[in-house]
Amino acid sequence: MESALTDQAFFALQPELTAWSQQWLQQLDQRPVARPDEPMPPLRDLPGHGLGLEAVWQSFCRDLAPGFNASPGPRYLGFVTGGVTPAALAGDWLTAVIDQNVASAGNSIATGVELQVLDWLRQLLELPGGLIGSLTTGATAANLLGMVCARQYAGWRQGRDIARDGIGSAAIKVFSGTPHASSLKVVGLVGLGREQIAAVPCLPGSEAMDVAALAAMLEASPEPGKIVIASAGTVTGTDFDDLNAIAALCRQHQAWLHVDGAFGLFSRLDPQRRDWSAGIEFADSITCDGHKWLNVPYDCGIFFTRHADLLQQCCSVSAPYLETHDLLPALMDRGIEQSRRFRALPLWFSLLAYGREGMRRIVEDNCRQAAALAEWLEASPDYALLKAPRLNVVVFRPRQEASADVLARLNAAGEVFMTPGQWQGQQGIRAAFSNWRTGDGDVERVCRALAAAVRGNAS
Ligand SMILES: Cc1ncc(COP(=O)(O)O)c(C=O)c1O
Repeated sequence: MESALTDQAFFALQPELTAWSQQWLQQLDQRPVARPDEPMPPLRDLPGHGLGLEAVWQSFCRDLAPGFNASPGPRYLGFVTGGVTPAALAGDWLTAVIDQNVASAGNSIATGVELQVLDWLRQLLELPGGLIGSLTTGATAANLLGMVCARQYAGWRQGRDIARDGIGSAAIKVFSGTPHASSLKVVGLVGLGREQIAAVPCLPGSEAMDVAALAAMLEASPEPGKIVIASAGTVTGTDFDDLNAIAALCRQHQAWLHVDGAFGLFSRLDPQRRDWSAGIEFADSITCDGHKWLNVPYDCGIFFTRHADLLQQCCSVSAPYLETHDLLPALMDRGIEQSRRFRALPLWFSLLAYGREGMRRIVEDNCRQAAALAEWLEASPDYALLKAPRLNVVVFRPRQEASADVLARLNAAGEVFMTPGQWQGQQGIRAAFSNWRTGDGDVERVCRALAAAVRGNAS
């Protein structure tokens, strides 16, 4: 039976929504971590007349709920997948309830909250003042904004306003050592050609750029527009480029320095690791992620630049209906979307609830867990570490079998989920710890699952 569009239907469902949510969170620990076998919901034509919210709820519980993975749970170690803190969850729930469009400041406090949260993030990461930015859908979108600004700068050096007039004959070269896949994507998206990135050799046994090689390449490059993409934490080796040295080279060659620190920048919360990203203060643009180590829900990325003028040139377009005279800047002039979600609210809740110390503890715990897994792997006759972990990522391989076979068995068993990795040409398995829920007991369960995944050991 079709239901009317009334708030009452939502209020009536609320006890069931709450009970289901509680059960989901309480059972995250016991659910199979990955659900690879149920990729599509049962096919159904779009109904002409709606089923009504209660019937849709029944369909969700029956048809969809069994197919979700436990990626916010403690043993989903694939990619770099953060969880959701309780405070962030409260903020996210309210984000949908109050449904603010963070486009222009308008007559809502939402823009002010995002500006405040960006400043808290700047403080948390100990970044310099004078940065402006916006919250994005993720690190890929933040990298895209970085490349858009970098391209604008490179054009400006050649007397061209690329946002207005297009790339035309502007000559622009991108240099990078170990760019994340998303950087390849965005270099393609901005029309600079991902196959055109100049691959800077890395230091032996590391994914960090050989600065002397970069210096020689910049020196030899005839293009007046130069962009360097550096890493503050590569996705496999968690290696850090020498940002101080690279920034000095960029200054010398008037190159734009973009730093991708999607998860690695949170190493700055740990006094032992803070110096790895020294020099970040000289970056022209910076990427970081909220939905990874900061444990706010998808989707949330963070973009900073110290070139407010260039960002606005690229993102600001005028139309009579957009003209406002607000006291605060319009965030649509600092990002990709015109209209978007109020994604600052989960951050506001979480940063305020747990503070710097709470965030530091998550980083510290996850690094300790990565080290504990590495220690077990080293002692195991079945596995070999491919690289000693420096942060939250462990890369290893089975000694006797192909990584892909062991990984398939491991993930199918449902106790843990990991993804493939490659270290210096060797195929392996990669585990990334970035969830506040992961406890030291989970590492023991992961080790038992790994032991069982080796041929002959499965029970
Ligand atoms: C270093 C780095 N940059 C960028 C990304 C892309 O992030 P997102 O998936 O949030 O777009 C990732 C994802 O793992 C990453 O590790």
